[in-house]
Amino acid sequence: MRILDKIAQARMEEEKLKWEGTFAEYLELLKEKPWIAQSAHARIYNMIKDAGVEEDENGRKRYKFFSGHLFGLEEALERLVEEYFHPAAKRLDVRKRILLLMGPVSGGKSSLVNLLKRGLEAYTRTEKGAVYAIKDCPMHEDPLHLIPNHLREDFYQEFGIRIEGNLSPLNMMRLEQEFGGRIEEVPVERIFFSEDRRVGIGTFSPSDPKSQDIADLTGSIDFSTIARYGSESDPRAYRFDGELNKANRGLMEFQEMLKSDEKFLWHLLSLTQEGNFKAGRFALISADEMIIAHTNETEYRSFIANKKNEALHSRIIVMPIPYNLKVSEEEKIYEKMIKESDAADVHIAPHTLRIAAMFTVLTRLREPKRGDMDLIKKMRLYDGEMVEGFSQADADELKKEFADEGMSGIDPRYVINRISSAIIRKGVPSINALDVLRSLKDGLDQHPSITPELKEKYLNFISLVRREYDEIAKKEVQKAFVYSYEESAKTLMENYLDNVEAYCNRTKLRDPLTGEEINPDEKLMRSIEEQIGISENAKKAFREEILIRISAYARKGKKFDYNSHDRLREAIQKKLFADLKDIVKITTSTKTPDEQQLKKINEVIARLIDEYGYNSISANELLKYVGSLLNR
Ligand SMILES: Nc1ncnc2c1ncn2[C@@H]1O[C@H](COP(=O)(O)OP(=O)(O)OP(=O)(O)O)[C@@H](O)[C@H]1O
Ligand SMILES: [Mg+2]
Repeated sequence: MRILDKIAQARMEEEKLKWEGTFAEYLELLKEKPWIAQSAHARIYNMIKDAGVEEDENGRKRYKFFSGHLFGLEEALERLVEEYFHPAAKRLDVRKRILLLMGPVSGGKSSLVNLLKRGLEAYTRTEKGAVYAIKDCPMHEDPLHLIPNHLREDFYQEFGIRIEGNLSPLNMMRLEQEFGGRIEEVPVERIFFSEDRRVGIGTFSPSDPKSQDIADLTGSIDFSTIARYGSESDPRAYRFDGELNKANRGLMEFQEMLKSDEKFLWHLLSLTQEGNFKAGRFALISADEMIIAHTNETEYRSFIANKKNEALHSRIIVMPIPYNLKVSEEEKIYEKMIKESDAADVHIAPHTLRIAAMFTVLTRLREPKRGDMDLIKKMRLYDGEMVEGFSQADADELKKEFADEGMSGIDPRYVINRISSAIIRKGVPSINALDVLRSLKDGLDQHPSITPELKEKYLNFISLVRREYDEIAKKEVQKAFVYSYEESAKTLMENYLDNVEAYCNRTKLRDPLTGEEINPDEKLMRSIEEQIGISENAKKAFREEILIRISAYARKGKKFDYNSHDRLREAIQKKLFADLKDIVKITTSTKTPDEQQLKKINEVIARLIDEYGYNSISANELLKYVGSLLNR
């Protein structure tokens, strides 16, 4: 019954939001809440802004409206808001232009438009996003259009609101015939956007140009009523039910705009120029709506190459929506897509999506021009990782090398399809990184846009990320062999630091058991330092550097810990693993484990499951794989 209660409650709430009154009453309301007269563009911008804006340390803005839905597109979205939504909301000229999102396949263009649509449906149900319209008007016309032109200056003096657009032919007629011109009596109602009910949101999708009619955009004559009204130019004999009509006050999505027939595009000319469009035999109809179209780069290039389209060029604002270039964001895209698919309950072993994401991002990156950089380092830098010898400033430099980076490469849908086919082929509801890499590889032959050269390149990326995976897999298993890995690493580091301190200060240590004074343990220190290639001659400098780092931390009141020094952490880790190597190697690769080994294997598997997120299938697969790696 729970869901039925909720449905009833939602209905009640919707009922509460309803408002109906005369135009005179609407004006009273407008005095109280002047924002209800905002333009469609302003409403969309405010919707985005009201969801919250965060600014990061580099002054980059993050619009929460998109967070959790679109990943890794922060820069493109920031630009979109700042160069289109914001100026359009201020009634600058850009609002009359068509917003054309240009980007590679499956790069999130439709998702972006859908977010805006769903956002508007919700926003118009809030106080700040409320919209009012002339009651029963098929185009939900703005009530302020009722104010005749010659009185609009007076209206501005009183309300401070500028009115744009003329009363539509249909409402003009109703005003005369039903209300004898008494504007104040015209009924007004609050409306709620809904794509399903065709209120404030429209979608136009090109189909066969021969059969597709302009009526889909601008409505059509209702022949059955001509007899009643006597003429085709009687607005009551016209159905204002095209997408442009229905989307009035809100947003119209023009899917695959450049694929559509020219006649549809020309229709948009006057709309983008004057904010009105022609329907049937009527005077121009004012439209207050944002038009968002999308296309891919190839289509766009051929469109601008065609001289005939020149007039339209200047009425379009092109915003690139490139692929995401950050591995960790790409991983989130897959997680989201899997959650929405039937594969939601399949076990996906740790690191699987990350490895797939690495491959995908590599296919999108351009080879850096700088000699000291390679693709893997670039990938890490872009993802905000620390790369020895480089800083985030280098990442910004690298981005400037190619303006069109992210406009090609492998798309997320391909990856999801390959993951699905890996699941099907394997037959057990548990897949790992190797299954996915294999599937990505097999799929390259079927991918329509992959040339033999590109295939070669992509195969190379697959072996690159395979190597990354090998490292991750080995580390994971080695960690799982230690009873409490973090704890052991910390203890070993504390021990090392105590010795380094005594060595540098020429003091002695105290034996914790006997309380005796002892010399620093040179053998222990060297065994750790050697892991990262520190020579006998360099050891003093290294130890001093560490002490300096510790005191710098102390001055700032920060605690120097296991993660404070990258190279030291690496050394500690390697030392722990070196001690383990033989036991891991023997235990994981033996075909006939003895009782002791069996106990260890079970212990490690249990740890992989409890602490590292594996299931028993993927944990066993991992152990077997690492066993084979260590015996190579
Ligand atoms: N940056 C991203 N953030 C979140 N999801 C994304 C992103 N890029 C792609 N996706 C996901 O990939 C799928 C395809 O995206 P979408 O349909 O929005 O792309 P598109 O650009 O419209 O593609 P097409 O050109 O094929 O129409 C969707 O499930 C979407 O959620
Ligand atoms: Mg799309």
